[in-house]
Amino acid sequence: MASSYSLILLLSCCSLFFVFITATQEFAFNTSEGEEAHHYHTLQLTSLLPSSVCNPSALGNKRSRGSLEVVHKHGPCSTLNEDTVKSLTVEEILTNDQSRVDSIRARLATKTGKKDILGSKATIPAKSGSTIGSGNYIVTVGLGTPAKQLSLIFDTGSDLTWTQCEPCARSCYDQKEPIFAPSKSTTYSNISCTATQCSELTSATGNDPGCSASTCVYGIQYGDQSFSVGFFGKEKLTLTSKDVVNGFFFGCGQNNQGLFGGAAGLLGLGRDRLSIVSQTANKYRKVFSYCLPSRSSSTGYLTFGSSGVGRKVKYTRLSGSSRSFYGLTLTAITVGGTKLPISPTVFQTSGIIIDSGTVITRLPPTAYSALSKAFKAQMKKYPLTRSLSILDTCYDLTNYQTVEIPKISVLWGGNTLVEIAPQGILYANGVSQVCLAFAPNGDDSDIGIFGNVQQKSLAVVYDVAGGRVGFAQGGCA
Ligand SMILES: *[C@@H]1O[C@H](CO)[C@@H](O)[C@H](O)[C@H]1NC(C)=O
Ligand SMILES: *[C@@H]1O[C@H](CO)[C@@H](O)[C@H](O)[C@H]1NC(C)=O
Repeated sequence: MASSYSLILLLSCCSLFFVFITATQEFAFNTSEGEEAHHYHTLQLTSLLPSSVCNPSALGNKRSRGSLEVVHKHGPCSTLNEDTVKSLTVEEILTNDQSRVDSIRARLATKTGKKDILGSKATIPAKSGSTIGSGNYIVTVGLGTPAKQLSLIFDTGSDLTWTQCEPCARSCYDQKEPIFAPSKSTTYSNISCTATQCSELTSATGNDPGCSASTCVYGIQYGDQSFSVGFFGKEKLTLTSKDVVNGFFFGCGQNNQGLFGGAAGLLGLGRDRLSIVSQTANKYRKVFSYCLPSRSSSTGYLTFGSSGVGRKVKYTRLSGSSRSFYGLTLTAITVGGTKLPISPTVFQTSGIIIDSGTVITRLPPTAYSALSKAFKAQMKKYPLTRSLSILDTCYDLTNYQTVEIPKISVLWGGNTLVEIAPQGILYANGVSQVCLAFAPNGDDSDIGIFGNVQQKSLAVVYDVAGGRVGFAQGGCA
């Protein structure tokens, strides 16, 4: 009796066990299939190609009252027309991107230069075809009273805001909107050479200010030999109908050269004293956020202040000692759900900044080769093809309509995992050359840069006073 009872127990035990195993296996099988799908994006190739029709983001529109609309300089949503915007080939964009990266590196390596900004610098000709960076985004602001609309390149990698100004004493390049005329604004005033803000130009521009008839003179040059020199002034800046900044310090350019792509100047969102972020610290507590559209045919936003910052934002600490740049801590990269075997010291040695004007993310070569290798391993079914400028992991997808790519995430300090959008993983030069949108630096000691392709469609929140930067997926289309 007892034995038959225990036999029943044993049987029931084991059949239960068996059922349990089967269930587990089924479950595991189902899960692994589910997870595999979870680790891949399937995307239409057309979504990687430029579109000629502007299709503004609904999300962007919803926010537009308190936000500036962000558009890609070369996309169909940009109001800069064909006459002033030279369209660039993908190779040209990547070449220009490298000159921006070189200039960032040079600025980080050297301290403030003591140069005669009105002398030699002012006469350096802009190299034809080069720009301050070609992957830039534009916002339109109102300057002066009455307010004049000006399209400015928005740049987290520099501090001084400037625009070309009448009478263009030496030279102005072609821009889309009429050039700003301080004499026609009732709120413009010159800054004197003895003002504190005048001396702050030294760190904001890397050049000591000049002085002309007691008016402070600024000069700033960019990596590609573009520059702007002019009077340092103060003016009313209208960001949105709700966001008006009185007495905003900016450069009123009298000698401007370079192909700024028809933009009227630059909006400096860096960390230094004269950036718009610092100048509006009392009003917006050094908080701003933006979303760069996933396609050049869509729109994003730039918002000042913390209103509209979502709850889903995950933060990481700001780091680094740079006055202008926003330094972050990168700890790992995952491809298809698997962490790449990269020693954390590789990222510690290089450091990394986030930059709105650099197109392609730059990684230490050791990290990049691990990334490229893992990506290639998961893209085996697609034929490799020749390199595209700085991008060396490229596929010929001529015979495909969709492509299945491993998801890529970056792990920031504080265990903040941020998934890159599919449009941030691939960079296409037509369907026959679709490349992994990351590039190696020359040396593991060079600083890493988290570029704007990888930031696409993320809501990026800069809480500078709080010493942190946050990310949320799906910030804009
Ligand atoms: C999960 O497993 C069950 C049982 O084998 C099966 O009927 C079902 O189709 C599976 N689901 C998926 C998504 O594969
Ligand atoms: C600003 O200073 C410059 C140089 O001294 C002068 O030419 C210009 O008229 C001044 N503008 C105003 C509005 O004072």
